[in-house]
Amino acid sequence: MSGLVLEVNGAQRSVEARGDDILLWVLRNGLNLTGTRFGCGEGQCGACTVLVGGRPVRSCRETLSEVVGSKITTIEGLEQNGRLHPVQQAFLDVEAFQCGYCTSGMIVAAAGLLAVKASPNHEDITAAMAGNICRCGTYPRILEAVARAAAAMKKGASR
Ligand code: FES
Ligand code: FES
Repeated sequence: MSGLVLEVNGAQRSVEARGDDILLWVLRNGLNLTGTRFGCGEGQCGACTVLVGGRPVRSCRETLSEVVGSKITTIEGLEQNGRLHPVQQAFLDVEAFQCGYCTSGMIVAAAGLLAVKASPNHEDITAAMAGNICRCGTYPRILEAVARAAAAMKKGASR
């Protein structure tokens, strides 16, 4: 097996892997970034969502050859200088989870939305989050958390 270098959470990381290896398993097993979850493994649930080049993708469906050279951000990389990302904080503030299995994928998907759309309306948020499944049915609080994070980020940006 040969080595590849990935840019993960702002750092260059060497992994013993091949181009056709799946990103999710390299993150979890090769780099010990276990916040990214395995749910369906078929691109259907969103539990494995990470950002690649700022865009939410299903890491269970991405091979390394598709992401080499792109900036990869996992749930562990959203915190900056000891401060939670506003989406992480909002999820905590409104307790937008029960079992928490979907949560990292939800947060990463929301962070991806807010990176490109600072003032999303309810439809924007609903559409962006529609592909992420919560088995516990906490959708109302998840949507509330994303709206709250958007408002917090807007307030922060206007200071
Ligand atoms: S585990 Fe990737 S979409 Fe479900
Ligand atoms: S909080 Fe349990 S799956 Fe979403």
